[in-house]
Amino acid sequence: MNSDLAGKRVLVVGAGGGIGRATAALFVQAGGRVTGAGRPGPKLDAAAATSGAEATVLDFLDRAAVEAFFSEREPFDHVVVAAAATRSGSVGGLALDDARASMESKFWGAYHVARAAKVVSGGSITFVSGFLSHRPSGGAVLQGAINAALEALARGLALERAPVRVNAVSPGLIDTPLWDSMPDADRAAMFARTAERLPAHRVGRPEDIAQAILFVATNPFVTGTTVTVDGGGTIA
Ligand SMILES: NC(=O)c1ccc[n+]([C@@H]2O[C@H](COP(=O)([O-])OP(=O)(O)OC[C@H]3O[C@@H](n4cnc5c(N)ncnc54)[C@H](OP(=O)(O)O)[C@@H]3O)[C@@H](O)[C@H]2O)c1
Repeated sequence: MNSDLAGKRVLVVGAGGGIGRATAALFVQAGGRVTGAGRPGPKLDAAAATSGAEATVLDFLDRAAVEAFFSEREPFDHVVVAAAATRSGSVGGLALDDARASMESKFWGAYHVARAAKVVSGGSITFVSGFLSHRPSGGAVLQGAINAALEALARGLALERAPVRVNAVSPGLIDTPLWDSMPDADRAAMFARTAERLPAHRVGRPEDIAQAILFVATNPFVTGTTVTVDGGGTIA
């Protein structure tokens, strides 16, 4: 057990998702008192049942709800934002409304949480960005821009909110429900192609990212940075 986390109050926003759920489970295992927040539904319920986190409904796009959530509670030791609903595509191909909604979700949702979050001195806020910020893809330009914006937000907020520490963890391709809308055969082929290209010889698992989030949240000397966990995708 990570003794730094014993009894600590942790909030994971997006706890019903692949990375959020693994993070909630790891923080519970490490002794944290974890609240798993997200949109209502079977994914959030299942995450609470399997991770041991207490489930709370919170839509991070609802600014008033986010502000009320924090004003009604004691400060948290650690806040993790792993929620997002984004559409992918080229700049020319993606409908402008979908592009705006993607930024609204992943960037502004995290911004709402970070702006309202009450966090104890020396505690942490962690965003989940993504490798496209520094290894762009012509078919997912906006994703890279959103991730870069989140990473810049983490760096700036680390100064504004000090001694609260603020960081981002940037995953490579991770096998989570994010990819469930792809036909099974296409998804399997994409994972196989990626695994072949990566020095790590596999795609990521949600637990790989959860470990990095635990690291940045609990290491008192880590702030204003982005930790990339991409199986070597950046150098391959
Ligand atoms: N998986 C990858 O390959 C990968 C790679 C790079 C970066 N990332 C980033 O990692 C983060 C987590 O991704 P993931 O793979 O875990 O995706 P996921 O399994 O799709 O989880 C995303 C979660 O965000 C929640 N969410 C969406 N909109 C919300 C809202 N308005 N309020 C509250 N919760 C909301 C979803 O809730 P519902 O259950 O209601 O849909 C879902 O539980 C995302 O930012 C993603 O872009 C993922």
